[in-house]
Amino acid sequence: MSGMSCIQNDITTLRVDAIVNAANPSLSGGGGVDGAIHRAAGPKLPEACRKQAPCPAGEARITPAFRLPAKWIIHTVGPVWHGGTRHETEQLANCYRNSLHLARQHAVSSIAFPAISTGIYGFPNPLAADIAVQTCRDFLQQYHSPDHIIFVCFDPQTLSLYKQALHRFTKTETPAAPGQQK
Ligand code: APR
Repeated sequence: MSGMSCIQNDITTLRVDAIVNAANPSLSGGGGVDGAIHRAAGPKLPEACRKQAPCPAGEARITPAFRLPAKWIIHTVGPVWHGGTRHETEQLANCYRNSLHLARQHAVSSIAFPAISTGIYGFPNPLAADIAVQTCRDFLQQYHSPDHIIFVCFDPQTLSLYKQALHRFTKTETPAAPGQQK
């Protein structure tokens, strides 16, 4: 039974089959989660990325995760937000879909996504969360794998958005806080 969940954490610490990197088309590393992943993966990652570059927006590439606890890194390039007038929403959905297709091709059972495009690329966080959850929900309904999709949020505000999106777009009940009556 495939499922989705959200947590607040540093994605580089997660022991999952694959973590997803919010990369740039050159796959050369950068700031944000891209910088954190490159720092944690160590010196072999740049060469592995060079062999997979370039990666156009919306597409995804896979490399080993080297020093990270994960097995794989799926690098995807989100859209830069230009106000919603340049198919940004479809491109963001493609990031999640293409990452999940790559994951299935590599027998990935657990995959962790950051909030792609919502940092340096400026994509509105609430809309991005809705796109992420709906795209992954539809993918699981069609393909029934990976087994577990985890949305890894780096701050409480993003976590709250993903909890709301999961509640709104799936039957996943947000667990009531202890002592809070349903
Ligand atoms: N773990 C999980 N999430 C993280 C981490 C981390 N260690 N570090 C940052 N984030 C979150 C940010 O808070 C944001 O919610 O990842 C989300 C994506 O933000 P960015 O990393 O800025 O990615 P993006 O907006 O897609 O911009 C990509 O930035 O770093 C460059 O090379 C990268 O050019 C590319 C661009």
